[in-house]
Amino acid sequence: SVTSNPLCESFFQCLYQVSNTITSDFVFTQNDTEYSSLLQSTIINLRFSTSTTPKPLAIITPLTYSHVQSTILCSKRFNVQIRIRSGGHDYAGLSYTSLYQTSFVVLDLQELRSVKIESDKNAAWVETGATVGELYYWVSQASPNLGFPAGVCTSVGVGGQVSGGGFGTLIRKYGLAADNVIDARIVDANGRLLDRETMGEDLFWAIRGGGGGSFGVVVAWKLNLVYVPDKVTVFSVSKSLEQGGSSLFNKWQYIGHKLSEDLFIRLIILPGLNEAGTRTMQLTFNSMFLGNVDMLIEIVTDSFPELGIQESDCSEMTWIESILFFDGYPKGASSDVLIDRGHKAKSYFNAKSDYVQEPIPEEKLEDIWKWCLEGDKPVLIMEPHGGKMDEIDETSIPYPHRKGNLYSIQYFEQWQDDSTESSEKRISWMRKMYENMTPYVAKNPRAAYVNYRDLDIGQNDNANNTSYLNALEWGRKYFGDNFRRLALVKGGVDPDNFFFYEQSIPRDYE
Ligand code: FDA
Repeated sequence: SVTSNPLCESFFQCLYQVSNTITSDFVFTQNDTEYSSLLQSTIINLRFSTSTTPKPLAIITPLTYSHVQSTILCSKRFNVQIRIRSGGHDYAGLSYTSLYQTSFVVLDLQELRSVKIESDKNAAWVETGATVGELYYWVSQASPNLGFPAGVCTSVGVGGQVSGGGFGTLIRKYGLAADNVIDARIVDANGRLLDRETMGEDLFWAIRGGGGGSFGVVVAWKLNLVYVPDKVTVFSVSKSLEQGGSSLFNKWQYIGHKLSEDLFIRLIILPGLNEAGTRTMQLTFNSMFLGNVDMLIEIVTDSFPELGIQESDCSEMTWIESILFFDGYPKGASSDVLIDRGHKAKSYFNAKSDYVQEPIPEEKLEDIWKWCLEGDKPVLIMEPHGGKMDEIDETSIPYPHRKGNLYSIQYFEQWQDDSTESSEKRISWMRKMYENMTPYVAKNPRAAYVNYRDLDIGQNDNANNTSYLNALEWGRKYFGDNFRRLALVKGGVDPDNFFFYEQSIPRDYE
């Protein structure tokens, strides 16, 4: 049992002494009744919630920043690894499990989730245990004309998402969530609580897009809030291949990234049945426009008339209502659902990502649809870049996929049964799909989005055997030429590699 493990006892004793508080308020060991439900509370990918998934010695839910500091100091002293968890949406479960045979604890930030809006300054301090949905909710409560450009799924944590970039319907107008961070509070490997001024610009650069978990525990972000109009307009229009899906897709490839920055049209492509009952691909054009329906129709009629958008396809709503629309809530749902932590859609899933820099030739699309149809329930989500993304320099923050990238692709597949066979079938379909897509996507390096974590592209072996050179292959996919600077920052701020995991940034030195 855990308490008979001398390492644990010393570790907990240390926590007690250093934090000077009763640890039972924020430390939950495997002997505590809350342990299991707490562990599962934010696990989204059920693939990492099985009886054989390695479990933490304890879950620590800090109530104050000093609890974060003491956890780091004691973990360091007793050589216990930590996994940092905000919203738990990590695709590979790395915020709450470990592939290494080692003792670890989960530092779960869910109790640190205040959101303080400074509307006079168009800014907000948000603690990293908040979800993106909570952030959106409190921003919209402060003013109907304030918004924030982060992701579409509202249960995602602010901690992980902003650390890796973060994009959604406002990407073309305002860039990534990480582009809109103006200050941060982080606890570093020495247990010091630092802000932008005291951490310095190198570390502040690295934590805005360099991926979570490599540099310290970010406890709060200060965000620049952005303007949204009283009304935005959304539409979601589906076309099958028989309805000309391929040529619409082809046209979208040429214009999706060039449209007005106020217009975001993404594509969701998945198998469905046509009228004859045959399985075919369905393409859904899913859009948000920062303006009213008349302006939207004018722009779309001018630049994408083939889509045939009618007023009846569109709905005007407030920005916060558009958040609910994109996250799949039924029409008329109250935005209060965004502050309800109980709601989380869990499933078994797997994903990969790519970036497209040249339109895929129209005559090749048939092949792509054929490969998709070989899958069970695959989904391809294509998100346009361009607009503001083209204006931001690729070294401005670690996220490198800027000008020249037309759109990103996320290959995603989810399923509901836990058999190994089921997982293997889906995973091998996706690997094959990824292989097949090689000629049509960014190369040298092939590119990937760190927030869609993919361990297939490579990982660190173990803490003593991680090197910048070994990690170069996967590191460049996520970060391009910014990977070197990330490794140099890492070498400077965490020379002992305390914040180490399967895809943490390795150290390098000048
Ligand atoms: P989680 O807590 O699992 O953390 C992810 C990583 O960050 C881990 O390595 C963790 O250790 C580290 N970390 C977490 N908190 C930290 C902190 N406070 N300090 C330091 N490190 C920390 N992305 C996107 O850009 N747009 C989108 O629309 C979506 N949509 C979406 C839908 C669904 C269903 C899922 C599962 C995921 C997405 N994502 C996304 C991807 C999402 O942005 C990505 O998985 C984030 O890393 C998740 O952040 P969490 O805090 O929830 O994860």
